[in-house]
Amino acid sequence: MCGIVGYVGKRPVLPVLLEGLRRLEYRGYDSAGVVFFDKGRLRVLKRKGRVYDLEEDIYRNSTLEPKAPGLGHTRWATHGEPNEINAHPHFDCKTTLAIVHNGIIENFYELKKELIIKGHKFISDTDTEVIAHLIEEYVKEGLNLFQAFLTALRKLKGAFAVAMITTMDPEKIYVARFQSPVVVGLGEGENFLASDIPALLPFTKKVVFLEDGEVAILSQEEVKYFDFHGRELKKTPQIITWDLASAEKGGFSHFMLKEIYEQPSALQQTLLGRLDLEKGKIDFSREGLTQEFFSGIKRIFLVACGTSYHACLVGKYLLERVIDIPIEVDLASEFRYRNPRLDNGSLFIALSQSGETADTLASLRLAKEKGARTLAICNVLGSTITRESHIVLYTQAGPEISVASTKAFTTQVLMFILLSLYLQEIYQREEPKELIKMLPRLPGLLNKVIEKLHPKIKECAKNWYGASNFLYLGRNILYPIALEGALKLKEISYIHAEGYAAGEMKHGPIALIDENFPTVILSAKELGIVHEKTLSNAEEIRARRGPIILFTTEGERKFEDKVNYIFYIPETSYAFLPILYVVPLQLLAFEIAYLKGCDIDKPRNLAKSVTVE
Ligand code: F6R
Repeated sequence: MCGIVGYVGKRPVLPVLLEGLRRLEYRGYDSAGVVFFDKGRLRVLKRKGRVYDLEEDIYRNSTLEPKAPGLGHTRWATHGEPNEINAHPHFDCKTTLAIVHNGIIENFYELKKELIIKGHKFISDTDTEVIAHLIEEYVKEGLNLFQAFLTALRKLKGAFAVAMITTMDPEKIYVARFQSPVVVGLGEGENFLASDIPALLPFTKKVVFLEDGEVAILSQEEVKYFDFHGRELKKTPQIITWDLASAEKGGFSHFMLKEIYEQPSALQQTLLGRLDLEKGKIDFSREGLTQEFFSGIKRIFLVACGTSYHACLVGKYLLERVIDIPIEVDLASEFRYRNPRLDNGSLFIALSQSGETADTLASLRLAKEKGARTLAICNVLGSTITRESHIVLYTQAGPEISVASTKAFTTQVLMFILLSLYLQEIYQREEPKELIKMLPRLPGLLNKVIEKLHPKIKECAKNWYGASNFLYLGRNILYPIALEGALKLKEISYIHAEGYAAGEMKHGPIALIDENFPTVILSAKELGIVHEKTLSNAEEIRARRGPIILFTTEGERKFEDKVNYIFYIPETSYAFLPILYVVPLQLLAFEIAYLKGCDIDKPRNLAKSVTVE
């Protein structure tokens, strides 16, 4: 996720771009850049770091005579480390056109190879630069600028919001959208564009949202809309009524709620470039992961803290189904102080949203010291854990602002699904085609679950937010989800909550049950034999008058009259259960904390990145 802004009009261009970038920094903040016209030529300024670092550079530079149109970009790195060279904008060989981009170009590697053969010179490691050279190439081959822009867009695979200014048409901004947001802001004698509304609000409330496959060409006087084949479109402007604070959260009351709702698109981003549906394979070649990396591996360690640790527990269930290698899961704070049997036959997998967690990092260093191969599953490009691991698989959740982790967790789980499919092919020599075919449907399925269950979850929260304790029970792959559901509730609502393996209930926690102690039970037909066993645990709680909130498979009607609340999850693949079940629990925690008036995005005593022991 990155942020882009654009302006064409008579105002001084840099203050407009910088104001927009500051308001988009929540989308990415490892580097920032602007491009504008200066004495008839394109002039770029970019910098590693935050927008205010760029701003300082700009105001120190007194030789500038900036003129619109101009573009700005704040980056959340996906390809290429966060540095000045990889910061946007990017250019063609002759610096006649500048591109800013948000998204991922899946086929950039192939396109780059072709363009290099044709003589193009690349200077960055980004996927974005390929767009500038592609347009340049089509112009060289004789297409007019508009056709070259459209032809390049049709060649791109992946997700993109792309904006361009060029000396070939110096009064205009070209912008296109495919699966990454673009909003056009309409003014009098001036027009704007941005990845999100907060960047536009200081200037205009009249906006047009581009849809996938649409292009806009902005000049001072007008904005014209087209599809990717150049057919003109009519679009109707809307008036935004949000204030600034709610606009930054996409109209949601809290970042946590926004991030919960972002999960279908975060999953989609994480799938991009990794699914080869034609061959029925998972493709990690870009990450440098090969079959050889796994050769001779005799033991696997999955290590993390907090929510990421719960993703490791899910990972164990998924990986154990496809490989015979023993897998150990550890809390990083324990792992680093025990005596794990690490050697060069060990594979150490570190999970971390931030890539900076002190205990996880120390465990990684210990594993490397003992000769283990290391792999990180991480969300933040260029973070310490990614720099120190042999292989990195990035979750593409985008920046997670809320302290309570949501979309980082579901994308970590998705990464384990992908890894298990990859290993299934290596170890069982069997192509897991069926599940691979289902994966593109997972984001849509999750969307439906959120839309359907959220209103009833709100109602359930109203009944139970006064409780002092909660128990969460699950078995098998839903056991870590019980732990995660309890963690979410305790960290944001400050209600005491415990997650347990349902089979452990009789070994202690059942003593707590009474009519004021609600239990959240997770079960699914896909769990086979342990599904019935979990439902028997529900009966035992009922017999002790314990209130029950049950999440189970659609069609499981026999419990309807026996529990206080029942939530149905569509029947699906075993591998998808953790994702489909955890999101309603995130919503339940959110709604309870909301009713209790807690500071949800910044819970007391917690920090987003735990860089000390
Ligand atoms: C809980 C939460 C924490 C983190 C933990 C690890 O919502 O966010 O438990 O999961 O501090 O952080 P990372 O994943 O950044 O290593």
